[in-house]
Formats: sequence, structure tokens, C-alpha cells
Amino acid sequence: MTRRFTQAIVRTPSPSMIEGLTSADLGAPDFHLALEQHHQYIEALRQCGLKVTVLEPLDAYPDSCFVEDPALCTEHCAVITRPGAPSRRGEAALIKAAVGFFYDYMEQIEAPATLEAGDVMMVGSHYYIGLSDRTNQEGANQLIAHLRRYNMTGSVVPMKEMLHLKTGVSYLENNQMLVCGEFARNDMFSEFDCIEIPTEEAYAANSVWVNDKILTPAGFSQSHRLMREAGLELIELEMSEFQKLDGGLSCLSLRF
Ligand code: GLY
Repeated sequence: MTRRFTQAIVRTPSPSMIEGLTSADLGAPDFHLALEQHHQYIEALRQCGLKVTVLEPLDAYPDSCFVEDPALCTEHCAVITRPGAPSRRGEAALIKAAVGFFYDYMEQIEAPATLEAGDVMMVGSHYYIGLSDRTNQEGANQLIAHLRRYNMTGSVVPMKEMLHLKTGVSYLENNQMLVCGEFARNDMFSEFDCIEIPTEEAYAANSVWVNDKILTPAGFSQSHRLMREAGLELIELEMSEFQKLDGGLSCLSLRF
């Protein structure tokens, strides 16, 4: 049975976000437009029935609005990660209290491991872990060991091109999965009902299931047609300013 989320944690973007990490070549984000888009994102989470905890901006960490990376929230425990991007490493300690408020059991990824939870995709009680530039094998090993202690499992996904695993693959419950680029027609995902996102709309591959609705970035009509044909109910959100920082919809919240 599909579980339902009741809580989300987000962090308000800081004006320093314009200096965030990016490979996108889309220009610097407009901070005020980003705040408006972030507000709409929070409203969409509330529309899906979630209670949203909004954390204060962190000026010292330009990418800290992407709260998904420094923590993994599972059904049984939370794992504080060790981000692979040096400029983001300090975000982990700064999200611990907010996550700990909701969890009795907390685990920690320790050096020399690196792991960003944008590389971790939940499918029931199994977690796929992408080996990216941000997440190393030791990070995957430590996470799998933590998961096992709570009767959950994990497996690694080799990857070459994407920033994070969930940049190119999203599980949307009910066996449905969006796949794009290097993850399209990947044998690892052959058991799922895959919807292939066209490469020219790759940003739409990061869409998020929240209680039977799909939050998806606005402006990707081919992808949205395919998703609607598959019976999915979409909430389209303007995400242009976060796309400029390689940031997807999933990166902007922890959902549990
Ligand atoms: N700008 C998001 C990241 O690179 O982590």
C-alpha cells in the first residue's frame, strides 16, 4: 500500500542563492522571483495535505534551499548526510535539529563517505542510490548499512551524466517511473512502468509524487501529455529560478 506524507520541511532561499552551484548556463537567478516561486511550491505542498515547516534562510550556504540533499527522511529513521559539494557540507549540521524534531532515530553519514540525498530514490522500503560526483561508494555503503538496521534495503545505480540520480529518474508510486537520458531503457528499472521524458525536456524528469498528485515544473508540454496519458494528476509549478541552479522540485523539500 502506498504510504502518505503528512509533513514537509523546506528552507527559504537566501539572497546568496544567486551564487549557488550550477552547470546550467541559464544566467543568475532573480532572487525575488525565486522567493515567489518558492512560496507557490509551499502552497502546492499544503494543497497536497502536508504540514510545512519553513526554515530560516542561511546566507552562508547559497544552495541551502535545496534541503533534500543534507538529509534523508525514511519511514523509520532520518539520515543526516555528508554532502559531496564542499560548499554544501555545513548544511548537514544545520538541518539536524529540524529533522530531529520529527524522528526518534537519527543516523549519520561519516567521512570519508559523501552522500547527497538527491541521489537517493525511495521505492517502497527500497532505496536506489546513484553514484554521482556528489555521492561515493562509501556513502552508499554506509546508507545501506543504516537502512538494513530498520529492515529497509538499498542498491547502487552507476551513473555518468546527471548531477543527481533524481535529476533523471523519479518514482511516482503505483509502479510508475519517469526516466530520462542515461536512465531511459536502463535494465535496472525494467520492472517499472516507465514514462520516457524527451531529452529536450529533461528538467521535467524531476517531478514529485505527493499524496497522489504530481508536482511538476511548468512548461514541458510533451512530458505533461505523456504523464496525463498515464493517468497522473499534475500540479504545474514555475521553477525557472531554481532550474538556473540545477535545482529540481524534489530538491526543495523533505517529505515524510
Ligand atoms: N545548485 C544545487 C547543487 O548543485 O547542489
